[in-house]
Amino acid sequence: MKKIAIFASGSGSNFKAIVDSINQGKIQAEISLLVCDKSNAKVVTRAKQENIPTFVFAAKDFKSKADYEKLILEKLVEQQVEFIVLAGYMRLIGGTLLHAFEGKIINIHPSLLPHFPGLDAVGQALAARVKETGVTVHFVDEGMDTGPIIAQRRIGILPNDTKESLEIRIHTIEHALYPETLATLLNPKGVGIE
Ligand code: GRF
Repeated sequence: MKKIAIFASGSGSNFKAIVDSINQGKIQAEISLLVCDKSNAKVVTRAKQENIPTFVFAAKDFKSKADYEKLILEKLVEQQVEFIVLAGYMRLIGGTLLHAFEGKIINIHPSLLPHFPGLDAVGQALAARVKETGVTVHFVDEGMDTGPIIAQRRIGILPNDTKESLEIRIHTIEHALYPETLATLLNPKGVGIE
């Protein structure tokens, strides 16, 4: 059973989708830790409800990214974490964690990368008046949403779509694609998510 840590900053709907898939035996992994940089984030409440250990920190209490990442790394080593899964973590991962978890940090982004990286990808797609957008799961490197792509799913943008309506459909895709992709990466060969 692979041990994973989820990093999140917000609502945690993807966190919940992953927890549910693990509880249903679809992903063979254990969430050993939730790392969160916002003490009042809904994802912290969700983790507590599921009895998942949490490590909450405030970046402003540290001198640098390297300082808080060193502390996070200690917690990850303590829990024997093998993979880091980013689910709405609103910070760039720095050298400390990238080096320690090379090729083992995964992220989900609400666009068809390399289009619309960074903040407000859904708003960016609407403003660009493209006909379709989507969701990307990718490995994390030092750039902003630039690492090797693992999986993508497309979605059409409807003429009357608002940011809210499109976001709802994107989230629905994310909640299916992220668990499916994690199952492929983490489960022993031949164990699918069906
Ligand atoms: C998702 O849209 C994800 O693609 C992006 O941040 C959002 C997190 O949403 N990286 P939630 O907190 O999982 O609901």
